[in-house]
This record gives sequence, C-alpha cells and structure tokens, in this order.
Amino acid sequence: MQESVLSSRRAPPEDCAAAAAAAAEDDADEPKSRRSASFPGARISAAAAAAFFGLFFFLLLVLVFAARGAQPRPVFCGSPYDALTRSALLVRRLDGLASDFGSLGVPWCRSKQGKTVEWTTNDLLKGLEEFLPVYETRPIKNNMYGMGFDHSFGLWFMVRWLKPDLMIESGAFKGHSTWVLRQAVPEARIISLSPRHPEKYLKKGPAYVDKNCTYFAGKDFVDFGSVDWAKVMDKHGISDLSQVVVFFDDHQNELKRLKQALKAGFQNLIFEDNYDTGTGDHYSLRQICDQSYIRGGGHSCFIDSDEARIRSKRKKFWEKAVDIEELCGKGDAWWGVRGYVRDNFNHSNKAIPYEEHFENSRFLESVLDVYWELPPVAGPSLTHQTRYDPARAPNPIIEDGQYGLFQRLGLGRLETSVFNGYTQMLYVQISPSTS
Ligand SMILES: C[S@@+](CC[C@H](N)C(=O)[O-])C[C@H]1O[C@@H](n2cnc3c(N)ncnc32)[C@H](O)[C@@H]1O
Repeated sequence: MQESVLSSRRAPPEDCAAAAAAAAEDDADEPKSRRSASFPGARISAAAAAAFFGLFFFLLLVLVFAARGAQPRPVFCGSPYDALTRSALLVRRLDGLASDFGSLGVPWCRSKQGKTVEWTTNDLLKGLEEFLPVYETRPIKNNMYGMGFDHSFGLWFMVRWLKPDLMIESGAFKGHSTWVLRQAVPEARIISLSPRHPEKYLKKGPAYVDKNCTYFAGKDFVDFGSVDWAKVMDKHGISDLSQVVVFFDDHQNELKRLKQALKAGFQNLIFEDNYDTGTGDHYSLRQICDQSYIRGGGHSCFIDSDEARIRSKRKKFWEKAVDIEELCGKGDAWWGVRGYVRDNFNHSNKAIPYEEHFENSRFLESVLDVYWELPPVAGPSLTHQTRYDPARAPNPIIEDGQYGLFQRLGLGRLETSVFNGYTQMLYVQISPSTS
C-alpha cells in the first residue's frame, strides 16, 4: 500500500503556463497520479527513435550543465495583487499540493518483517460511504480541541475492522472519541481514562457519556502507565490481549506510551496525533522514525540548502509547515522539536542528543510489526484545509481532482472546518523485541 502511495507523486510543472495546464486538468474526475501518459514517438521506426533519444540526451546534458550556475526559480510569477496573478497563485497552490514530495518526503517507520495492514484503499472508500451518515449524527457537533472528520473516520474504520472485545481510550475530553468507538463496535466494552470526567462538560453543552464504559476519570483518574492492567484485564475477563485496542489521545510522549503498552502486553495501538518533526506538543513515533536512512527522513539546517528554500516556500501555503529556522534549534538540532523530546502537552520537555534519538528509532523498529498512517480523507483542493502540508502526508484517499467522487460520497455537505485537524493518525501493531 505504501509503495503505491510513494510512487504516485508528481513532479512540479516547469513554469506558470504548465501550472495552469495542470490546474485545468484538475477538473477531470480522475486522480492525476493514475493518468496514463502517451509516448509521442510510438509510431516511428527504431532508427528514428534511436536518433530521437540520442538528440534528447545530448540536449539534456547541455541543460544540466547550464543549470548548474542558474539561480533558483522565483516561486511566483507576477504581482500578487491583480486578478490574473491571484488565479496563478491559486494554480501554484493547487499544484504545490503534493509536489516537492521528493525533497521533503514522508518519513516512515520500518517494521520487523515489513508487514502491512490488510485493508486497501477500496475498503477505505467503502468505509467512508458508510461512515458519513454516522458522523452526521454525532452528539458533539463542534469538537474544537478534539478530533475532526479525518481522524474520527480513521478511528471508526480501524476499530471496526479489528473488532476488539475491549477498547481502551486515554484522553476523552468531552467524549467524542468514546462515541466514535461505540459506533464502531456497539457490543464491546470501553475503558476510558481522562483527568476530567466527560460528564463535567454536560453542564456547559454537548458531551457524551457511555453506559457500557468504565471510567478512570475525575476523582478515579489513574494515568495509563500506573494502571495494574493484568488485574483490570482479569476483572473484564480478557485473556487474549490481541483482542484489545488501545487509543491514545492524551498528548503524552508516544515512546513512553508504547513502552507502557508493551509492558502490559497490548499489541494494537492507535495514536491520534502522530506529529511531524518540528511540530506538536509531544514526541511522536513519526518524529522518532525521521532518520537520515529513511526516505524523506533526516534534515539539513544549512540555510542555503534546497530543503531550506522549499520549506520557506511551503510555509507560505500551509499553516503547519515549518521553515528551517523553526525546524532547527541550538547546534542545528532538528530532531523531535528543535532537538527536544516534548511530553504532556509540552508541559515538560528535555533536550536529547542525536545519538539518543537514533537509538530510539532502533528500539522502535525492533518492536514494530505494523506501522500505518491514516491518509487524509481528501486532497486540500477538495476539503479546503490549509493546515497540514500535503508534501509531508501520505496521498489522500480521495485525491485532488476527484471532485465528483468527493461530492458523490456526500463529503461536500460537511463544514470545511472539520477537515482541519489531520495529524497523521497512526495504527501500530507491536510485539516484544526478539533480539
Ligand atoms: C485532545 S483531548 C482528547 C480529545 C478526544 N479524544 C476527542 O476526540 O474529542 C486530550 C485529553 O487528554 C486529557 N489528558 C491530559 N492528561 C492525560 C493523561 N495523563 N491521561 C489521559 N488523558 C489525559 C485531557 O484532559 C483532554 O481531555
């Protein structure tokens, strides 16, 4: 699945005219990445083809040498004020949805045996069709600071696929995610841990309290890492821990949570906020796997690098994109957030040396059986989201250009704000290291 995600990225068009042509193409209801290209010389003889290619490669060589001394191309062509230029800017913006992928890329965690998930893009599409009417009945319509549409769908889809006997949630807020878990598996038990009981929010507005849920909340709150899970599993009659899914939306260091889950014997974990390097309020698995030996991983703090140029360009378009100044801390530390491991909503943080960050990734790889990031539900030209940078996210389930499909599924009915919370929700399967 990841291979198809990686291979379908496009190169940016060469100039404004090509960008405009690319945008016109966007109107077709077909993912750009799947269009087939026709070969112009298909009907010419072998000798003519050889001459054609010879000339082509010669010209290419000349161009490469000429480009060595060339200045970087300007990002925009024209004044930002006239109407024509504004539409050209939009074209650039649309074109920049997934280009630059080659330079920034999407880091990925390696699993022990390279195993991946069972579900396919088709399953996700079918799931979306089913989930939308469910989502429209949600009790908490405005879930600011909680999950939006993409992650609500992801949680519902994964849990429904896994059909656990028991679901554990850490971080409930007003109870929206508890409601999603309940819709996904109506008969399963839920354990929810959160310092403030969701019922407290009922006084001020909509909240969700589940009848078949054991709450470790309010005065009964216990942190996930301090629960005697063997005792709790016993009490709930759970002997097979592969039938348990743990969902973390508590903004704690994910390495800490993963080690706690591993110690308790849990195997299926979902992390809501799998923050990208340089962003977020807790150390995430994606940050840990951001290493130089991974495609799209490892960074350069060199101010005149291609990466610096591309980052500053993308920051103009995407709120959560970080430029090189934000990415790099003291001593050019780029890992985690400026060389820091953040924890507990960034109420605590600690600088770590690169060697420790590297060791963390080796440890993670030694316990990972599956690593799967939920793709965004739809491309930014459809959802109008302006936060996450698509160059650092997997290809969306509904790609830019599939406007008809987006509308057919009814996604156009949703308020655009529900698409603004995507942060690479993550499913991992873990087991103890054998080495
Ligand atoms: C982002 S909100 C959760 C949103 C919720 N899952 C939703 O979809 O609406 C984070 C929640 O984590 C809670 N929290 C803070 N520290 C926690 C901890 N140590 N364990 C569990 N929850 C914690 C906060 O009180 C807050 O309710």
